[in-house]
Amino acid sequence: MRITIFGTGYVGLVTGACFAEVGNDVICVDVDADKIAALNRGEIPIYEPGLEGMVVRNREAGRLRFTTDADTAVHHGQFQFIAVGTPPDEDGSADLRHVLTVADTIATWMEDDKVIVDKSTVPVGTADRVRETVERRLAERGVAVRYAVVSNPEFLKEGAAVEDFMKPERVIVGCDDAVAREKLHALYAPFNRNHDRLISMDVRSAELTKYAANAMLATKISFMNELANIADRVGADIERVRIGIGSDPRIGYHFIYPGAGYGGSCFPKDVQALARTAHDVDYVPQLLQAVEEVNDRQKHYVFNRIRDHYAGALSGKRFALWGLSFKPNTDDMREAASRRLMESLWEAGAMVQAFDPKAMPETRRLYGDRSALTLCDSPEAALADADALIVMTEWNLFRSPDFELVRERLSAPVIFDGRNLYDPAILAGLGFHYYAIGRPPVAPGDGEPAT
Ligand code: UDX
Repeated sequence: MRITIFGTGYVGLVTGACFAEVGNDVICVDVDADKIAALNRGEIPIYEPGLEGMVVRNREAGRLRFTTDADTAVHHGQFQFIAVGTPPDEDGSADLRHVLTVADTIATWMEDDKVIVDKSTVPVGTADRVRETVERRLAERGVAVRYAVVSNPEFLKEGAAVEDFMKPERVIVGCDDAVAREKLHALYAPFNRNHDRLISMDVRSAELTKYAANAMLATKISFMNELANIADRVGADIERVRIGIGSDPRIGYHFIYPGAGYGGSCFPKDVQALARTAHDVDYVPQLLQAVEEVNDRQKHYVFNRIRDHYAGALSGKRFALWGLSFKPNTDDMREAASRRLMESLWEAGAMVQAFDPKAMPETRRLYGDRSALTLCDSPEAALADADALIVMTEWNLFRSPDFELVRERLSAPVIFDGRNLYDPAILAGLGFHYYAIGRPPVAPGDGEPAT
């Protein structure tokens, strides 16, 4: 099938590559000429496991092309995917400028029947606005073609996006047009494993499903972070509580990990946008507001621990920081908890020596060269003469370090762990002051003897 995808960001690029991978003929279009030129040289702007190989392979096979030429691109596709960004407006609502510009572009060049598919995360009612935009332009051109606007939200986790696309849990298709629904069904057929993954519904429900899924996951995380704060105060261990409640299949083990607060391009933005939608229809979304507030507070958790440990005397201190990206297997720093932490440390006069397997170029882009930040070549190098180690992202590489070496390299045996990666008793046995999230401290020397 012939597919056109507007937007070569993380969603558009993964969508285009995966559709090409199963044999479709895909054109990806973007207004950013530099990005398109880079993609045509086989350079991928983001780090996403499996994506680069897939893009290169399909480009070489001629099934995946990149262009800035909207006219050619619109003519190409039976399906026109809109996969452009919806950044938050000042009031938290999603900014639909890019989505509606693309809708207008499609209608400007459209000559035959098309299925227009909304993949961007957009508030309920956007498909109607896309339809109005298309209608207006077609009327102006005096062109009559048959088209449908379908909502087909993405559920791609960064770091596992290719896998999520190729083996989806579900494909949500919101559509009021039976012919278009059948076409989407055929398009997604190669991605069905064991059973049909397509869940069909009306457009508005599909639009809301995307927000509902992300808001539910964010709620689980904020709930656990709130419990971690309570655990701290009552002397309980949140990790035991997590395992205790997760064993109930109605609760489950997924997304109940306490931490330094959720980040990324979706949860913070989508929780806010859904709350905004609720306000717009005169409903006060108390739970969603709390989810966001708890997350904001949680982003100060690690810093507060550090400040308390040093009784506020942070000026001139030097910290080793492992992990900068908002989660492992990505170089994305959007809303990463590490950012709030570094900014607070710098404000307090401290210095940061950081290492991340993928996100250091992005960190450099965001913060430039500043004397209070050193980007190091390895986790070990970041430790050199630091007053403490801070862990902010649970990359596998950080899960089982050589603690003897960590202790040797640091000027004092102190670890602040924003991801609960280590066993407090073992670290205390090794002589560390170990601070985790929602876990009672064990005095150094009181833990289990080192093995
Ligand atoms: C999310 C959704 O999972 C995905 O379905 C959607 O399409 C896009 O948004 P993503 O933002 O890539 O994906 O990351 P995700 O793995 O969901 O993690 C989001 C944040 O929550 C991260 O900062 C992570 O560290 C945090 N998190 C996750 C926790 O703090 N605890 C958990 O138990 C799980």
